[in-house]
Amino acid sequence: MIQTDFSLLHHNTFGVDVKANKFIEYSSVDELSELIVSQQITTPFLHIGQGSNLLFTKDFAGTILHSRIGKIEIVKEDIDSVWVRAGAGIDWDHFVGYCVDQNWYGLENLSLIPGEVGASAVQNIGAYGVEVKDLISSVETINIFGEKKTYDVSECMYSYRNSLFKQASMKNVFVTHVVYKLSKKREFTLNYASLKDELEGDQEVTLATVRLAIISIRKRKLPDPKVLGNAGSFFMNPVVSHIRFKELSEEYPGMPYYEYPDGTAKIPAGWLIEQAGWKGKAIGAAAVYENQALVLVNKGGATGNDIVHLSDAVREAVRSKFNIDIKPEVNII
Ligand code: EPU
Repeated sequence: MIQTDFSLLHHNTFGVDVKANKFIEYSSVDELSELIVSQQITTPFLHIGQGSNLLFTKDFAGTILHSRIGKIEIVKEDIDSVWVRAGAGIDWDHFVGYCVDQNWYGLENLSLIPGEVGASAVQNIGAYGVEVKDLISSVETINIFGEKKTYDVSECMYSYRNSLFKQASMKNVFVTHVVYKLSKKREFTLNYASLKDELEGDQEVTLATVRLAIISIRKRKLPDPKVLGNAGSFFMNPVVSHIRFKELSEEYPGMPYYEYPDGTAKIPAGWLIEQAGWKGKAIGAAAVYENQALVLVNKGGATGNDIVHLSDAVREAVRSKFNIDIKPEVNII
């Protein structure tokens, strides 16, 4: 379906009211191929999922694309594992719920993350000790010239919230399906302290109890975008050098961190922002969320630029207190 002069208000979780010249939704690879051949996808173009990791600062003078490819199927199976192929347009949490219902292990810690299957593979979503790259087997794509290509996970250059598909050279490439390799054997990732605490007292740990525990932790900590516009973590957690890490941990003995084998350390940006005094603070309708400083929220009517303005102020405060530059995780358009 092609629509013109289209409001993106319901297609970005920050709830920013901007327009796109053209908005196109398609339900199959064939339909997308036809749109390509008939040159409907005018430039500039941008492919979005649920708009849960982007911030529009102005109207988009081009074509916004959105996938509605929706099928889930088993493409291979052995004694231990199942390979599940899912359409890029499937709601992520619906897919996680489906896998949990089928007794397939692996994705349960990624419950309730906003977004869609396609974006999971672009963004390498992660939470509670699991990154989706560890469950992806391959990623199927089509480019703006109509050429299809399947990437094995080893070709996707996955790292923390990053992948091959985020590189500027790949902006002509659209993810159509993702194949996940899930386990049929009982195995959980429960090393995250808050998850362990949440499960404590449960009779037996099952896929369903882990999923419920994750959902309740997230509901407590993170604002519901339907109520308060936001895009989850606005910033990435910065990684600092070994020397800087030693200095910081001497100065701030209570500082949380995750140390890598090479001595560098990831410091939670939420903690840095809170220490810099910005938790819960607002500039106009843009605010730092009161329960989790890593999240910026739209209290109602904020523009994209209002949120960028707040982000700049927060970054500057963290830079001047800690000499660390925290970088937005959200794509600013
Ligand atoms: N912290 C504070 N103040 C705050 C927020 C956090 O001091 O306002 C401290 C916490 O006490 C904790 C540490 O920072 O010691 C880490 O906090 P948390 O475990 O909540 O995780 P996070 O680093 O803030 C990351 C991901 C989340 C993911 C959680 C759980 C990034 C940028 N964010 O957040 O992902 O859900 O871990 O695994 O890596 C997202 O990407 O949108 C997202 C929500």
